[in-house]
Amino acid sequence: MSYEVPKNDKLLKWVEQVASLCEPERIHWCDGSQQEYDELCSLLVQTGTFRKLDDQKRPNSYLAWSDPIDVARVEDRTFICSLAKTDAGPTNNWMHPKQMKEKLNGLFKGCMRGRTMYIIPFSMGPLGSPIAKIGVEISDSPYVVVNMRIMTRMGSAVLDVLGNGDFIPCLHSVGMPLAPGQPDVAWPCNSEKYIVHFPEERAIWSFGSGYGGNALLGKKCLALRIASKIAKDEGWLAEHMLILGVESPHGEKTYVAAAFPSACGKTNFAMLVPPPSFVENGWKITTIGDDIAWIKPGADGKPYAINPEYGYFGVAPGTNVETNPNAMASCASNTIFTNVALTPDGDVWWEGMTKEAPPALTDWQGNAWTPGCGRPAAHPNARFTAPASQCPSIDPDWENPKGVPISAFIFGGRRKNTIPLVYQSFNWNFGVYLAATLGSETTAAAVGATGNVRRDPFAMLPFCGYHMADYFAHWLQFGRSIPRPPRIFSVNWFLKDKDGKFLWPGYGENMRVLKWIVDRVQGRTGAVESPLGWMPRYKDMDWTGLNVTQEQFHDLTSVDRDVWQDEILSHEELFVKLFDRMPKEFLHMRELITSSLWRSPEHWEQIGDVHPEGWNE
Ligand code: OXD
Ligand code: MN
Repeated sequence: MSYEVPKNDKLLKWVEQVASLCEPERIHWCDGSQQEYDELCSLLVQTGTFRKLDDQKRPNSYLAWSDPIDVARVEDRTFICSLAKTDAGPTNNWMHPKQMKEKLNGLFKGCMRGRTMYIIPFSMGPLGSPIAKIGVEISDSPYVVVNMRIMTRMGSAVLDVLGNGDFIPCLHSVGMPLAPGQPDVAWPCNSEKYIVHFPEERAIWSFGSGYGGNALLGKKCLALRIASKIAKDEGWLAEHMLILGVESPHGEKTYVAAAFPSACGKTNFAMLVPPPSFVENGWKITTIGDDIAWIKPGADGKPYAINPEYGYFGVAPGTNVETNPNAMASCASNTIFTNVALTPDGDVWWEGMTKEAPPALTDWQGNAWTPGCGRPAAHPNARFTAPASQCPSIDPDWENPKGVPISAFIFGGRRKNTIPLVYQSFNWNFGVYLAATLGSETTAAAVGATGNVRRDPFAMLPFCGYHMADYFAHWLQFGRSIPRPPRIFSVNWFLKDKDGKFLWPGYGENMRVLKWIVDRVQGRTGAVESPLGWMPRYKDMDWTGLNVTQEQFHDLTSVDRDVWQDEILSHEELFVKLFDRMPKEFLHMRELITSSLWRSPEHWEQIGDVHPEGWNE
C-alpha cells in the first residue's frame, strides 16, 4: 500500500465487506502514480495480457487481445434494478434489487480467490469541480486499473477531495477465481455476465466481463446510467454526447453538444479538421469530449457542459490520418490498444488505418494474418484507450470546472435513407421529439445483429438509467426551465444512393454542415421551411473546395412522403412501447409532422415553385 488508508467510514466498511465476500488474495489501494501504472503494465506483460509495443514506434504503449467471448458491451446482460419495475421502463432489463443482490452475492462469493483486489478511487469531471462526481471501483483486473487511470482522474488525490464524503460504489470482477497453483489466462472472464445498476442506491455491480464499458465502470455505468438518474432527480442532463467548440472568422466561439449512437463517428466529429479553405478563413474546431456530456444550467440561464472523462476509448477500425488525424495523434504514445492487430515490427494496425494492409500481421486472436485471408485483422469493435490531453485539438477550457456554454444540440443516426443531411427543428419540443425518435442502423459496439434500424432515443437507449418516457419528459421540462434553450438540429452523414454509395463525403466535410448550424445559432444565415424543420438552401452552404452539385444537394435534402409514412409508423411502435408514461405533447407533435408531410408535395425538394429561393429569409 503506497499511502495511508483513507478516513472515509463508508469506504472502509465497504472495502471490508467486499473483501470478505470476494475473498481476494491481497488488497491494493491504487495511488494513481506513474510508477504504479508502469508496474501494473509490467505485470500485465508478464501474465500475457499485454504486449509492449515498440518503444520507437509507439512509446509507452501496450496491446491486449481479449477472449473472443468478451469483445463488446453486453446489452442483454445489462440491468437497471430500480425498486419498481415500471421505473426502469420497458427498454431496460430489470430484476427486483433484492432478488438481483441474492444472485450477485452468489456469483461474487469467493470470485476473487487467488487474485488482487484493487481499490480505484476516481473522479468523473475535473477534481473538485462542483459538477464532478466521485466513484470508487473495486476490481480484480489490473487491466481495468490501467485503463481507468487513462479514462478518469484516478488515485489518492481523489480520496483527498473525497474526505469523509459520499461516493458511488462500483464493484467489478472478471468472475474467474484461481485455485491454488492454477495458472491464469491472458484474458480472464466468465461466460455468465451481469452489468447491474441500482439507481436508487446509486451502486453498480459488474460480473464476468473485462471489456470496455462492461468493466471500466466510470464511463457508461456511472457517467450515463447512474448519472442520468441523478440528473433527473437534480434537474440537469447526463448525455451520450460529444462536446466541441467552433471558432469562426467572426471572432466568436460556439460550443455544441452532439449525440450519435455508438460507433457512428462521434470521436471523428469531436476532433473534426475543417477543409483547407475553412482553415484559411479562420474556422477552427476544438474538442472538449468525444462521448459523454454532463450539462447543468448556469447562473446566467445558459446550460454549461463538462466532459466527465479524462481519456478516449475510441473505436480503432476506420481511423486514419485522413479520417481523424487528431485521434491518430492522441494514440501515438501512452496508449492501450485492445483487439487490434500486431505488425512484425511491434506496432499496431487495423482495417482502414492505411490504404494497403501490411503484407503480414498477427490478428487480434493471435493468428498469422495476410491480406485477402478473409478474416478481419482487428476486431470491428477494437479500441484505443488514450489520454485526452494528447489530442492536438483539445480545447483550452476542457478542464474548466464550470464547463462551457452550449448553444446547440445535434442528433444524428446512421441512416441510408429517410433522414436528410441536416435540418433545424422548429422549436425545443420538436427537437426533443426528433431526438426521441432517433433511429440508427446497428453497429459492432454492442453484441447483436448489425445493419437493422433500431430506435435509439437520444442515443441513450442502452444508457438511460430509468424509464425512457420519463427521460423525454425531463428533457421537455429542462427546455422550459431555461430562458433561452439551445437550438436543436438533426444530421445524417450516412445517406446512400440506390447503388449503395455514400451521398455525402463526411469526416472533415461535415464542417460545412456545422458552419450552417453555427451560422443559424448566430443568426447569420437563411433557411427554407421543410416539412420537418428549417433546412439550408444550396446557397446557404459554403461549397468552396467541394464538388457537390445542386442536384446532389437535392438528393441530400429531399423528404419523401412514402418513406416518411413508414418512419412515422415506426415512431408509433416506440410510443406504444412507452405508452404508460409518454409525454402527451409527443402525440400532438407526431400529428403535426404527419399533417405537414401531407400538406407538402409527395417528394419534397427545394426546387420548382414550391419553395422558391429566398422564401423565409
Ligand atoms: C462507446 C459506446 O464505447 O457507445 O462509447 O459503445
Ligand atoms: Mn459511446
